[in-house]
Amino acid sequence: MTRARASLGPVAWVRSAQAEDVGALGRVMLRGFTDAPSAPYDHDELDEDAERLGRDLLRGARIDGHLLLLTEVGATAVALARVSPRDLVCSRHVAQVALCVAPEWRGRGIGGATLREAQRRGFGELRIERLEMRVASDDAASARLAEGHGYRRERVERGALMTGGTVKDIWFYVRDR
Ligand SMILES: CC(C)(COP(=O)(O)OP(=O)(O)OC[C@H]1O[C@@H](n2cnc3c(N)ncnc32)[C@H](O)[C@@H]1OP(=O)(O)O)[C@@H](O)C(=O)NCCC(=O)NCCS
Repeated sequence: MTRARASLGPVAWVRSAQAEDVGALGRVMLRGFTDAPSAPYDHDELDEDAERLGRDLLRGARIDGHLLLLTEVGATAVALARVSPRDLVCSRHVAQVALCVAPEWRGRGIGGATLREAQRRGFGELRIERLEMRVASDDAASARLAEGHGYRRERVERGALMTGGTVKDIWFYVRDR
C-alpha cells in the first residue's frame, strides 16, 4: 500500500482504499459532494446509505480497474479520489480523475495532496498518458485546483450538466503525462 503525505497544512495521508473502508468512502462521498458544483447529480439524489455507496466505489475499482484513493488526517477520512481509465479504441490511455474533500477540510491543501497522488499513481502504475477533469463553469475551486496542477482547458461541452434545475457548461481540463 502506498501512502503519500500532504506537503502543507494538516498531516494527511493518501492511500489505496481497502474493503474495510466501505463506510468511510461512502461518508466522504456524501459529505464531499455537499456544495459540489461539478457533481454529476444533485446531492439529494445520492443514496444516503454510506456503506452501499462505498461498496459501489470499491466494486468499480475491482471490476473496471479504477484507482480509488482515500485521504486521512489521523483516523479521520477527509477526501477521496478516483482515476477511471476510459475505454477507447484498443486502449485505456486516457482517464478521468475526480475527487472530493469533506467541506470542513477544504482550503488546507488536502485536495492538492490527493490530486498529486492520484496523478503519480495514474501516470505511473496505471500507465495513463492523459488525465481529464470535468469542471462545471461555476466551480472556481476545482478550476483553481486543476490549473494549479498543470491542467489546461481543452474543450467545453455547452449545457452538458443539469443540477438543481440549472443547466451549466462543463469544461474539460486535461493534463498529459
Ligand atoms: C475542488 C476541491 C476538491 C478542492 O479541495 P481543497 O482541499 O479545498 O483544495 P486545496 O486546499 O488543495 O486548494 C487547491 C486550490 O484551490 C483554491 N481554492 C480552494 N477553494 C477555493 C474556492 N472556493 N474558490 C477559489 N479557489 C479555491 C486554493 O486556494 C488552492 O489554490 P492555490 O494552490 O493557488 O492557493 C473541493 O473544493 C471539493 O471537494 N469540491 C467538491 C467536489 C468537487 O466538485 N470535485 C471536483 C469534481 S472532479
